[in-house]
Amino acid sequence: MKKLLTITLMIIAFSSTAFAEQQKERISDMKHMADGMGLIMNGLLYNYLDNVSAGVKYIQEGVNSINKKGDLKTYLPADTAYAHKFGEKSLRRIMEYSNELEEAMQAKDYDGALESASLLMRQCNSCHSRVRGW
Ligand code: HEC
Repeated sequence: MKKLLTITLMIIAFSSTAFAEQQKERISDMKHMADGMGLIMNGLLYNYLDNVSAGVKYIQEGVNSINKKGDLKTYLPADTAYAHKFGEKSLRRIMEYSNELEEAMQAKDYDGALESASLLMRQCNSCHSRVRGW
C-alpha cells in the first residue's frame, strides 16, 4: 500500500515537473518572438532597417523552435490543445507575413512593410485569443 502511494506521488511529482518544464519552454519561445515584435515596431517607428530584419529573424527562430518540438497539440496548454489546427495556421501565416515584411523593407516599400507588420501582429493575437479564452 505504502509502495503504491509512493509510486503515485512520484508520478504526480513527475507530471507536474514536466508541466512546468513545458510552460517554461513555451514562455521562452514566446518571449523570443515578443522581442522580435518589439524590434520590428522600433525599426518601423525609427526607420531602422536592421532592427526590422533582426526582429523578423527572432520571430522566425521562435516559430522554428515551436515546430521543432513536434505536434502543436502537445505543445499548447492541455485545456486549449483542441485549437492546434488553428494555431498551426497562425504559425504558417506568421512565417509568410514575416517574409513579406522583410521583402518589403528590402524593396523600401514602407506601406507594404507596415501592412505586413500589422497582419503579423494580428496572427499572434488571434492564436492568443483562442489559447487564452479572450
Ligand atoms: C500557436 C499559438 C500561438 C501563436 C501563433 C503565438 N502565441 Fe504567444 N502564446 C501562446 C501560448 C499558448 C501562450 C501562453 C504560454 C503559457 O503561459 O504557457 C502565449 C503567451 C505569449 C506571451 C506571454 C508570455 C508570458 O510571459 O506570459 C507573449 C509575450 C507572446 N505569447 C508573444 C507572442 C508573439 C509576439 C507572437 C507572434 C509573433 C505569438 N506569441 C504567437 C500561443 C501562441
